[in-house]
Amino acid sequence: MHEFIFKDNELYCEKIKVNDIAKSVPTPFYLYSYKTLTDHYDKLKAAFRAVDPLICFSVKSNSNIAILRALIKHGAGLDIVSGGELYRAKLAGANPKKVVYAGVGKKREEIEDAIRFGILFFNVESEEELDEIEKAAARLKAKVNIAVRINPDVIPKTHHYIATGKGESKFGLDFETAHKIFNARWRYPHLNIRGVHIHIGSQILNAAPFIMAIKKVMEFLKECKIEVDHFNIGGGLGIVYSIENPQTAKSFAKSIVPLLKKSKLKIVLEPGRFISGNSGVLITKVLYTKRTPRKTFVIVDGGMSDLIRPSLYEAYHKIVPVEVGEDCSTTAEKVDVVGPICETGDFLGKDRYLPGMPKGSLVAIMGAGAYGFTMASNYNSRPRGSEVMVIGNKFYIIKKAEGYKDLVRGETIPKVLR
Ligand code: LLP
Repeated sequence: MHEFIFKDNELYCEKIKVNDIAKSVPTPFYLYSYKTLTDHYDKLKAAFRAVDPLICFSVKSNSNIAILRALIKHGAGLDIVSGGELYRAKLAGANPKKVVYAGVGKKREEIEDAIRFGILFFNVESEEELDEIEKAAARLKAKVNIAVRINPDVIPKTHHYIATGKGESKFGLDFETAHKIFNARWRYPHLNIRGVHIHIGSQILNAAPFIMAIKKVMEFLKECKIEVDHFNIGGGLGIVYSIENPQTAKSFAKSIVPLLKKSKLKIVLEPGRFISGNSGVLITKVLYTKRTPRKTFVIVDGGMSDLIRPSLYEAYHKIVPVEVGEDCSTTAEKVDVVGPICETGDFLGKDRYLPGMPKGSLVAIMGAGAYGFTMASNYNSRPRGSEVMVIGNKFYIIKKAEGYKDLVRGETIPKVLR
């Protein structure tokens, strides 16, 4: 469920007409619903009430500091993967004791910054990284909490680019190496190695692979008599983009809470898409319609530099005219909705049924709140548009659109070329 709803053939975000927002905000822009965002957080929190988990929102899915702030105020922690995300977490006022830090390539300075901030856990992905954190902790005279990220070697059914829990992926440690680390805890006097972490992939539609991975980890802990107090089960919950029928928070919790309860460990979740995915849409404007002997193209002013998911993963995002209504199939024509970028792969949707879209009409690309703006780029020297958040009947610019000057910020022409 989300708060982008049609009333009298017009798209609203919460209580505001999207068209009214577009009168003062140039397209393309991302539009977020505060209520959808916080409702999804609340749903997960309620579903898992029995284990009272720490829910760390995955910043990589949507890192705008206003989005982070909204969730932090609702009680969320954060899952970060870089110094940049740590910086954002601080700006958003995150409680360090609710921040966990994953990623296979943490740099020394990033590690030091996170230690100074006093984060809850590093989710460690290699032995060399563990050594690096030990050294940093010694330098800073700190005692640092560690969770070992385990690669449980399960195959979640999802796009192969976003499956992370298979044996051959770069993420986490195999059981044997993890065992070795737990046995050699004494080698790390500045570390408390007291957690296990998994994250098996993203956009996973049913609980089966989670159950398999959790069981594997629990057997491992039992067999090797490893004592830990935290179990971070990662993110990865899938959402509805088109005709998917993903598990609800409730049904997901129902199938895994009994397992988690048995473990008696403090549970951490790292959802990104489940919270932010359907909380945002990309609003674009029709520039031209081009009819060729083979196809009709609706050319809009947002493209793969704004939302790369269709090009990168052939991901499906529903596309709706902002003014005609959700069900436009009666008058519709089959079109490809494409952007202005000079790549054949620059499309937002293929073979979609849209009514005649006059120049200047608005189109919403749905389900763009996760991995939308965060994966946007300046390709073709296109400034990124703004981000807007609706709270009830008011809207707020939470990121200004870039201008041409932003594109060349930091670039210089060496004297010899002048
Ligand atoms: N925790 C870790 C360690 C992760 O690597 C990720 C996502 C998450 C949590 C959050 O996963 P989520 O709940 O959002 O599925 N760009 C891709 C998705 C990449 C996910 C990367 N890791 C996409 O647009 O589908």
